[in-house]
Amino acid sequence: MTKNAGLNRRTFMKNASFTALAGAAGTLAAAPQASAQEGRSASDSYPRLANGKYDFDTVYNRVGSNCSRWDSPPRSYPNGEFKYGMGVASMDFECAPCITEALQDRIKHHSWGYMSSTNELREEIVKWNGNYLNNDISTDMVTLSDGVYPGMIAAMRSFIPVGGKVLIPTPAYSGFYTMARAANIDTVDSEMVKKDGRYTFDWDDLEAKMTPDVRALIVCNPQNPTGNVWHEDELLRLGRMALERDIVVLSDEIHCDVIRNGQKFTAFSSLPDQAVVNNSLTFTAISKTFNLAGMKNAYYYSKSPTMLQRVNQYHRAELSTLGVVANIAAYQEGRDWFEQANAYMDDNHTFIENYVKQHMPTVGYTRNEGTYMTFLDFSKTIAAIGAEEAAKEKEARSTEHYFRDWMVYNSGVYLNPGVDYGKGGQGRMRMNIASSRKVIAEVMEAMAGAVNKV
Ligand SMILES: Cc1ncc(COP(=O)(O)O)c(C=O)c1O
Repeated sequence: MTKNAGLNRRTFMKNASFTALAGAAGTLAAAPQASAQEGRSASDSYPRLANGKYDFDTVYNRVGSNCSRWDSPPRSYPNGEFKYGMGVASMDFECAPCITEALQDRIKHHSWGYMSSTNELREEIVKWNGNYLNNDISTDMVTLSDGVYPGMIAAMRSFIPVGGKVLIPTPAYSGFYTMARAANIDTVDSEMVKKDGRYTFDWDDLEAKMTPDVRALIVCNPQNPTGNVWHEDELLRLGRMALERDIVVLSDEIHCDVIRNGQKFTAFSSLPDQAVVNNSLTFTAISKTFNLAGMKNAYYYSKSPTMLQRVNQYHRAELSTLGVVANIAAYQEGRDWFEQANAYMDDNHTFIENYVKQHMPTVGYTRNEGTYMTFLDFSKTIAAIGAEEAAKEKEARSTEHYFRDWMVYNSGVYLNPGVDYGKGGQGRMRMNIASSRKVIAEVMEAMAGAVNKV
């Protein structure tokens, strides 16, 4: 258990109810919201754990809490058209109780100066990797950061000269382009291909694009937004191709815990080829696992001390005291909550797959292996409503951005446009599925109503 300044979390919890959050409740209740967001608010008390089960069904109302998923989109739709925030990758579930308890314990001590040590956090990171990811690392390999972004940007700056390039198998997380811009380098997309209903790398295209100015390759595992969980042989092949051409592998594994039933995650640094592993750095966190993105805590590591040192020279991050407290609590006591959340999200994926197949015949579905995103193909609807021409006429950023607005106006559902994820994103929209089943069901019904009427 986490101990802060002699405060005891258990004693605190015995004496205090969760009404500590009541101050925020007025804002939450007053905010405009979709009907599915009329659930529990921050002030409600309810059983968090009954018969060993956490409650993910009851909607936890995030509207008005200044969260980007639900509170950012309405600014673009001022007439109330927005109802469902199914974009940005954060969960709608209330976080694991052990995290709130640890934070409540720490805030009993009212001093917020610089913290002293992060050793406990490093040790928990190493244990988590060993226990759950079959990944043997040690604390001296790990650099703590306040996000995947700062670590990746530092790595790009350290391995890629200005004018050089990073190669990205796409569709891939839109943030990689933002990171490259911040590092003042260019990107090259290698569009993945679909084989037997699964996205896979286009090996010939990748090879052709590994030109001398390409100095790094991003591996996103699990792949956001396509949901691939890459197999060992795929990672080895990629790693060997990169090594032969002196291209460094930057492996983003932030979604590593969100793996669907029957799938197996392979950490790049656990591959059975030491030279390949030593040519890589991994960037990750438990911020997706426990919905802790706002707590600004992540890390990167490498089994090559030289590589690690090179990136460290360009990296500077400070962690926050509460972020460290929250992360340690999650590592130490959150596993049961996460396993239940992951099983719930797995069922959400299945629900969506069945729903699309039964009720949205014009929409293309790709089966997810991991992540809590799903990448739906709306090409037919986009063509049917003449979105391409309309987008040009309205000077929209792209056809898919026009379609994003169309979907909000016609169903209230806000999705992320596929083009933001690079080549291969045309006609696709990314949907976040980490919500109560009630919200997911309403969203699917609303979208089906919109696409089936065209
Ligand atoms: C694949 C991937 N990498 C990185 C990030 C951002 O990480 P961070 O918030 O730690 O910078 C995200 C967020 O959605 C992501 O999906």
